[in-house]
Amino acid sequence: MTYVVTENCIKCKHTDCVEVCPVDCFYEGENILVIHPDECIDCGVCEPECPVDAIKADTEPGLEKWLEINAELAKTWPVISRKKDALEDAAEWKDVENKIQHLSKNPGPGDE
Ligand code: SF4
Ligand code: F3S
Repeated sequence: MTYVVTENCIKCKHTDCVEVCPVDCFYEGENILVIHPDECIDCGVCEPECPVDAIKADTEPGLEKWLEINAELAKTWPVISRKKDALEDAAEWKDVENKIQHLSKNPGPGDE
């Protein structure tokens, strides 16, 4: 198994999750982070850190699509291991539904 970042992260990117990961397996896109499933050691410490509950164990039902998205995008995006400010309008996007239509596949800046 692995943990995956899901829809609630889109357009928020609080980045509290990256600080606790012992293996630095978060990768940054323009408006979401993803977890590299082959690097995640399933420790689970990131899950409660996300203020919008975006991180899930992939054993939860219905997350196959998100596992694919995390696996695909983690291959080319830069690693992020240090917390940074959330996206400016994160609060406005907190409870928006069907955010997947806004998922950007562009890489983010990563650790700078
Ligand atoms: Fe990192 Fe552990 Fe979260 Fe996997 S479960 S992404 S290893 S903190
Ligand atoms: Fe995203 Fe939550 Fe981390 S919003 S960046 S998964 S703390």
